[in-house]
Amino acid sequence: MAQDMEKTNEFKKGLEGVVAGDSRICLVNGEEGKLYYRGYRIEDLAQNCSFEEVAYLMLYSKLPNKKELAKFSKGLAKARKLPKEVIKIIKLKAKSANSMEVLRTAVSALAANQPEVDKLTKDEQIGAGISLIAKMPVIIAFCNRLKKDMEIVKPDPKLGHAANFLYMLYGRTPSETETKGMDMDFVLHAEHSFNASTFSVRITVSTLSDMYSAFTTGIGVLKGPLHGGAAQEVGAMMLDIKNPANTDGYINNILSQHGKVMGFGHRIYKTYDPRARILNGMARKMSEEKKDMAWYDIAQKIERIMQEKKNLYPNVDFYSAIVYKQLGIEMEMNPAIFAIGRSAGWVAHVMEQYGDNRLIRPLDNYIGDIGLKFVPIDSRK
Ligand SMILES: CC(C)(COP(=O)(O)OP(=O)(O)OC[C@H]1O[C@@H](n2cnc3c(N)ncnc32)[C@H](O)[C@@H]1OP(=O)(O)O)[C@@H](O)C(=O)NCCC(=O)NCCS
Repeated sequence: MAQDMEKTNEFKKGLEGVVAGDSRICLVNGEEGKLYYRGYRIEDLAQNCSFEEVAYLMLYSKLPNKKELAKFSKGLAKARKLPKEVIKIIKLKAKSANSMEVLRTAVSALAANQPEVDKLTKDEQIGAGISLIAKMPVIIAFCNRLKKDMEIVKPDPKLGHAANFLYMLYGRTPSETETKGMDMDFVLHAEHSFNASTFSVRITVSTLSDMYSAFTTGIGVLKGPLHGGAAQEVGAMMLDIKNPANTDGYINNILSQHGKVMGFGHRIYKTYDPRARILNGMARKMSEEKKDMAWYDIAQKIERIMQEKKNLYPNVDFYSAIVYKQLGIEMEMNPAIFAIGRSAGWVAHVMEQYGDNRLIRPLDNYIGDIGLKFVPIDSRK
């Protein structure tokens, strides 16, 4: 006779509010809408630092001086070269798979070029991390050009991380505003404590698996529309709304059906996401410069409705969708752009987990049957 198990343990659905470990990397203050990377205010870093400086901060727990930054940036630029087999994989899949799928497969394949991937020293692990941070934008840019039947553009070692990425996409040197917009977006996506993809990265290396496996997991988790895929959904929503005059009807329709408006709400922020505030400014500047205000005007209206009706604020993905549009980045690529930024945080979390590791293995609350009578296969109905 089947028997139902009583619920034995209290648990929090979605692990809401559950503390899963100590960390020195990032503080998210959801009540006050504040964010710090290794103690530094996100506003200071976003306005004043390149992605390379923030990646250095993530990996070495300090902001680099000029000499350290020059050496680090040179190392990143040198590590951009992709192995031939990985280029082949990108060519094979660029047309049939989306950017995140190509990225996940190419990153996984990169492990084959790392000798003794399971026996790396701490410095070699960081080296593998730097190599991944450097190569991810190249994979995504190559994939994008191939999707459009265009020649791939090889990286330019004279250009920084953000400028080089845009150069590989556009086939021309980007403007100062374009470079700053991209750089700022990478900085704002670089880290965000134990979010779903970062936590999955930590779970992966808690088994003492390697950096490449961690990144492959992280990319897979980031791909979902409730995480890194939200900016793409925001873009699709903007296209649907088309004209600011249609905004009220469109959003009210979603809300009346208890649907979700993408780019709003957050598990931790109960007020304005500070990253969204910074990107709001950048989205506005870029839209004004391009004299293309439609999406920005729609966004302002959505923000007002969501605040009034749901008391919900925009998250990082809301205004980044507009920044990507103004950068000429196709919506399909949006989650992959998020991954480029987040790669720096993933390396920091892998190293922190290795540094004080214990296998991450929670319990479940079993609510299924027990003691069922076994029936041989020939007698089953
Ligand atoms: C980010 C997110 C997944 C957080 O989820 P969560 O903490 O599990 O919160 P829930 O999904 O349980 O939402 C709690 C309540 O707020 C509502 N809500 C949350 N986000 C909403 C949104 N974007 N639009 C409309 N309602 C929303 C839910 O419907 C729910 O209402 P209910 O209690 O009446 O059922 C969620 O806000 C969401 O799906 N947002 C849209 C996707 C997105 O922008 N993701 C990027 C995150 S950076």
